[in-house]
Amino acid sequence: MKDLLPRTSAHAVNYISQVADRPVKATMTSAELRATLGGALGTTGETPESIVDRLAAAATRGTVASSGPRYFGFVIGGCLPAAVAADWLVSAWDQNAGVYALSPLVSVVEDITAEWLKSLAGLPETMSVGFVTGCQMANFTALAAARHHVLREAGWDVEAQGLAGAPTVTVITSDESHYTIFMALRLLGFGAATAIRVPADAQGRMRADTIRETLAATSGPAIVCAQAGNVNTGAFDPLDHIATAVDQARQVHSRPIWLHVDGAFGLWAATSPARAHLVAGISRADSIATDGHKWLNVPYDSGIVFVAHPDAHRSAMSLSAAYIVATAVERDPHEFVPEESRRGRAVPIYAALRSLGTTGVGDLIDRCCRHAALMADLLKVHPHIRILNDVVLNQVLVRCEVPGRDADALTKAVIAGVQDEGTCWLGGTTWHGMVAMRVAVSNWSTTADDIEKSAAAILRVLEKAGS
Ligand SMILES: Cc1ncc(COP(=O)(O)O)c(C=O)c1O
Repeated sequence: MKDLLPRTSAHAVNYISQVADRPVKATMTSAELRATLGGALGTTGETPESIVDRLAAAATRGTVASSGPRYFGFVIGGCLPAAVAADWLVSAWDQNAGVYALSPLVSVVEDITAEWLKSLAGLPETMSVGFVTGCQMANFTALAAARHHVLREAGWDVEAQGLAGAPTVTVITSDESHYTIFMALRLLGFGAATAIRVPADAQGRMRADTIRETLAATSGPAIVCAQAGNVNTGAFDPLDHIATAVDQARQVHSRPIWLHVDGAFGLWAATSPARAHLVAGISRADSIATDGHKWLNVPYDSGIVFVAHPDAHRSAMSLSAAYIVATAVERDPHEFVPEESRRGRAVPIYAALRSLGTTGVGDLIDRCCRHAALMADLLKVHPHIRILNDVVLNQVLVRCEVPGRDADALTKAVIAGVQDEGTCWLGGTTWHGMVAMRVAVSNWSTTADDIEKSAAAILRVLEKAGS
């Protein structure tokens, strides 16, 4: 260990110090990776040093520089230095963060971090918080609590009785809900296709009037899934109006209705005084899902769920066994998440928050949004580029249009060309039937210079592909 960890640290420092300058794409083929990493497993073991050397050698060209400053694909954050370092400690400590008795430190860190997060996002202090693997599991956990709550109100114990014979739960999503909401509905036994999908507007925002109409046309327990931050446009559902529609339907029809908000990256707008208005009303939600590994820039895997009904949260998640040592007063982390044994994944979040401070988190969000706007400004002056969305957050949708050319094919060619050229990386999507490139700016280390270099690369590729 004495020599191994410094050696590993040197590899990591080397990787991180090169990530901004190397080609963003992976330049090693899967065959080369297999040749470097594979072969038959030896009968006798190898030295740890030779194993980390081998992994490090493959990482330089076999990884995508997705933690670097010019990676704009999907919605991918980088890694704040304090968060990477804290994550290493989590591995060194190897704590099972299931119960307080196994790791008082992680349990207390979870408590502290949960309080900080609620305060940063302006959420009620009374919300319970779970630290999960990502927003997929945050959505799942939140909707499990929702399922428990609305069915309990309808006189049904879903944890004990299952869904067969249960009162029907109406699930309302939007046309633009993220696919992980439907995955959660599948896992929870609701089925993905049973949800009523209400239409969204031109920016992908759910329409509050249609929620009102849909609630009026249905009866019994219901779950409404809204969104803060559309994965294509960055647009926010009108959360305050939706919360009011839900409140009115609860009162008029005395029915249990749960409002969930998927805020995978959009919740972080709450931390910026300039952008908090985008999430107005979010504190009225019954549950909220978000990610740490996207915009807070902590290492994978890191998601967070907030629930306004801790009893429903616990009832949906907790389990007991004779040998589990539960404490009456301290936090047993497993009560808020689907897993039992788990790593101390709140620790890197704690470190990230501590290293940024409250102002620093908002500054990070604002900086990324400014960079997204700069990218849109630099691209849209080109006569053959159209920006398809209102750039309200960190997402830009770009389409290449040359008269007489198939714009879908051209846009796809430019996306492939940019990925191949290597200055930056961005992916594609289809928005309202049109192929578009997606630029998502979520990395703490991206500078205006990175945006300028990347915009120039995109325009160079377009010039070539469009001529
Ligand atoms: C709106 C939204 N919800 C949920 C998710 C899923 O998050 P994760 O991949 O962390 O599970 C994403 C991912 O991009 C997202 O944008």
